Amino acid sequence: MELKWQAARQALTWVHNGMVLGLGSGSTAQCFLDLLGERLQAGALRDIVGVPTSERTASRARALGIPLTTLAEHPHPDLAVDGADEVDPDLNLIKGLGKALLREKIVEIHAGRLLVIVDESKLVSRLGRGPLPVEIVPFGAEATVHWLATLGCRAELWREADGSPVVTDDGHYLARCWFPAGIADPYALARLLADRPGVVEHGLFLGMATAVLVAGTQGVRVLQRGQPV
Ligand code: A5P
Repeated sequence: MELKWQAARQALTWVHNGMVLGLGSGSTAQCFLDLLGERLQAGALRDIVGVPTSERTASRARALGIPLTTLAEHPHPDLAVDGADEVDPDLNLIKGLGKALLREKIVEIHAGRLLVIVDESKLVSRLGRGPLPVEIVPFGAEATVHWLATLGCRAELWREADGSPVVTDDGHYLARCWFPAGIADPYALARLLADRPGVVEHGLFLGMATAVLVAGTQGVRVLQRGQPV
């Protein structure tokens, strides 16, 4: 957990007075939120507004006194700060194991820059070490999961402990896809998923990260596109 705080603390150096921020979801993004709330309370930062990427982030931000806005009011946030589940050497990401991938992708695609904060356990040589989350429409969900399994993965509907399907903030279901040898061609897979009726969005965030702050035992490294991991 300490590493996540280190990455989050470093992310604050990217934040300046008057910015509109995309506020990510998940435990690392929550560290950033807590630190941002502290800075605002202390008056060390001012005139910040945030676009939350989940209901959970929105309620946390409200509790911390972080002013919130919407994409309708601010269609182009200056900077989005979020965690990730996996980061590959090209700074392509898998996100969504926090169940918020759709709103994250919408906010982050509209942001001027996406700053990703992770600990070094998230670095992978190839995406697909863990499951790829895919947000799907409840109608025909079983058939969609069946189709997902034809893509060379083991696919299942993501369920809560009581067996009911996980439901996202937007009322969709989530599938999880395990690729036994990882994802050989993320761009080709992203195109297939994007073209499929019933698939709302997927957790491949390709070419979106401006930089990744990686916290490790030696401190926080900044990875930029084109720089070896
Ligand atoms: C939320 O849906 C996700 O995309 C998170 O950003 C991702 O799961 C990383 O979460 P942690 O910071 O909790 O590992």
